[in-house]
Amino acid sequence: MLAEAAVDTAPSAAERVQQRWDRYTKADHEVWQTLYARRMEQLATTASRIFLEGAELIGLAPHEIPNLKEVNKRLGPRTGWNAVPVGGFLPAREFFASLSNRRFPTTVTIRSREDIDYVPEPDIFHDVFGHVPLHSDPPFADFLQRFGQAATMARTPDEVEMMARLFWFTIEFGLIDENGTPKIYGSGLISSSCDAANALGSNCDRRPFSLDAVISQSFRIDRLQDILFVVDSFEQLYEAVDLVVERMSI
Ligand SMILES: [Fe+2]
Repeated sequence: MLAEAAVDTAPSAAERVQQRWDRYTKADHEVWQTLYARRMEQLATTASRIFLEGAELIGLAPHEIPNLKEVNKRLGPRTGWNAVPVGGFLPAREFFASLSNRRFPTTVTIRSREDIDYVPEPDIFHDVFGHVPLHSDPPFADFLQRFGQAATMARTPDEVEMMARLFWFTIEFGLIDENGTPKIYGSGLISSSCDAANALGSNCDRRPFSLDAVISQSFRIDRLQDILFVVDSFEQLYEAVDLVVERMSI
């Protein structure tokens, strides 16, 4: 049996951030409203049904930035996941330890109207609209926690790179086959029209997911993706993480 890394369950300083929901301005809510309307119109036909059902289950609304307390009231009883406010990027190990406790670090700021089409760092639209709906799906919820456990166990540079590639090509840029059609579920695709159009267009080589294929594939964060991977189910991802753990030199 493999020894797993001990995980600290206490919230860190970076996690001790509140979402002051009453302090969002009318302009903030209007940015959410514009982004939500634009994306949902396209996602109705391009997103995985699991995302679409999840967005409804957690109560995402078209007209206002979600209140994380309300989201968690719906999400927690379903899968035990919670969206936890953070002030910005967490160190990788802290981020993965948080996943292993079913706590998803969530930025609470929202991009400005001037930057509505692109911001390099995550905001609440990417983190909540893009990520959190899937956390209501039990198979994805189990996979994400298992991923967090495995990622905290990575020690060598090769192991760290392997987990980064797995994260990138699934949680951020993954596609899933639904009745013979590739649908998007990765948060980078869900939250960005441009990346989603590329992922489903003729310039992107969509390959069947396999652990070996994914961990052999490098990626660039500063350009549209040439190659992406399509899973058959989220159970397949859970199994892939188990394989990763077997390969680690623990
Ligand atoms: Fe993300």
